[in-house]
Amino acid sequence: MTGLTLMNDTILLIQGLSRLGIKHFITTPHIMRDIYPNVGSNLLAEGEKVKQELKNRGVDVTFQVAAEYYLDDHFMGLLSKRDLLTFGDNYVLFELSFMQEPPILQEAIFEMQSAGYKPILAHPERYLYYHNSFEVYENLHKQGVFLQLNLNSLAGQYSPHVKKTSEKLIECQLISFLGSDCHHLGHIALSEQVLSNPYLKDLISSDNLLNHTLIQ
Ligand SMILES: [Fe+2]
Repeated sequence: MTGLTLMNDTILLIQGLSRLGIKHFITTPHIMRDIYPNVGSNLLAEGEKVKQELKNRGVDVTFQVAAEYYLDDHFMGLLSKRDLLTFGDNYVLFELSFMQEPPILQEAIFEMQSAGYKPILAHPERYLYYHNSFEVYENLHKQGVFLQLNLNSLAGQYSPHVKKTSEKLIECQLISFLGSDCHHLGHIALSEQVLSNPYLKDLISSDNLLNHTLIQ
């Protein structure tokens, strides 16, 4: 894909979500050394180009760049250098392997919190190995790890089990943030579809959701 097409798609995605009422954007591209070898400084530079393009086209939204960090040795190295992209109140968004809980999870949480970062675990509902150990979610929440649900999980994009776990996490008041999980234009229709979901409505009308605290 050319840079021009990428930029155009980026603007189309933002405009599409904006039509659903979303006016404040924090984009969190993956940082995963082998698969998405993004570098924080490059992401910020690209973000500035997007901001300029939004301005040129008169798209009235706020736009900020952070990242979704895959928890591995590469992340631990960035963490030790305090070289992480944050948003809001020093939040760091991180994700885990989908295969098994990484053995360094507790160490990573401790290091993040000791460094003054506030960890947000991306899409807890998608880690199948936690589905029958719901206390893990409760313990993470008690530890001060914020949980961010993917909007599309509620739409059933992944599986009925993921959808069910999403609903249970909302019922148990464990969700603090919502992410769009918007990767392409097709996801916008899915997001629109989920807006009338009763669990989502409950979450939005509760005091648990902290997305509004991120508005700049
Ligand atoms: Fe992810």
